[in-house]
Amino acid sequence: MLEGSSVPLSTENWWEEFAGRIGKKAEDSMEVLGIDIGGSGIKGAPVDVSNGKLTAERYRLPTPQPAKPQPIADTVAEIARHFAWQGPIGVGFPAVVRNGIVGSAANISKKWIGVDAQALFSQVTGCPTYVLNDADAAGLAEMTFGAGRERRGVVLVLTLGTGIGSALFVDGVLVPNCELGHLEMQGQDAEWLASDAARKREDLSWKKWAKRLTLYLNTLEKLFSPDLFILGGGVSKNFDAFGPYLKVQTEIVVAHLLNEAGIVGAAMAAQRYIPALV
Ligand code: BGC
Repeated sequence: MLEGSSVPLSTENWWEEFAGRIGKKAEDSMEVLGIDIGGSGIKGAPVDVSNGKLTAERYRLPTPQPAKPQPIADTVAEIARHFAWQGPIGVGFPAVVRNGIVGSAANISKKWIGVDAQALFSQVTGCPTYVLNDADAAGLAEMTFGAGRERRGVVLVLTLGTGIGSALFVDGVLVPNCELGHLEMQGQDAEWLASDAARKREDLSWKKWAKRLTLYLNTLEKLFSPDLFILGGGVSKNFDAFGPYLKVQTEIVVAHLLNEAGIVGAAMAAQRYIPALV
């Protein structure tokens, strides 16, 4: 347990105060442990939030199944222990998260609904922790250090994985928890039809899957008239295989940070918001 972690810090100079408590100097680089909870893996690494770079090799553990609160929390704690971490932690979580509390459960155990994930992870790690939606985290990283850098207007960052994560930015400002993966498409949940998991489950060719993705992106175009789509998630590395089949009006770019975006963005959010919590 981090000594004195229950003593409140003032919001100004929080890093100086916090650094003092954990035996660091204020001028030490600002490192935050970023953790990304996904459908199949939980990944973490310390991040230098001044430049978005990982300062140690990523550590990955399989997501416990069923993905219930305590086993997930234990895995988060194991990642913090792996890095002997004492400091702020940011966690990207695959659900709606408001003020640390989980509000939905599409690809995780329903037991999460109503759980204060922020309090739980703070308790098991003994470190001040900030929790936000995983796609919002990835979006923050892409908008700051990746494909959305300096892009204004309406930008939609989509993470195509077990589910479809979405992060909506208006002139660089995040509108959190927009959950556009659950739009209705052909009478079904869009992520059921168009996620990367759907491609694998139905063994779709790149061309067939791109057709579904086109339908999904066209729905988003009708509703949001975006200026840019940023496609992320593991499958985005195969963009050359499916990209040419997409038929959309909006500019599309591939995420730059690939599987690091969620980790980097979670760390950035913690740096930004932990001062208001401690
Ligand atoms: C969840 C989102 C999450 C996305 C990607 C969806 O099923 O509802 O909250 O961002 O999956 O993990």
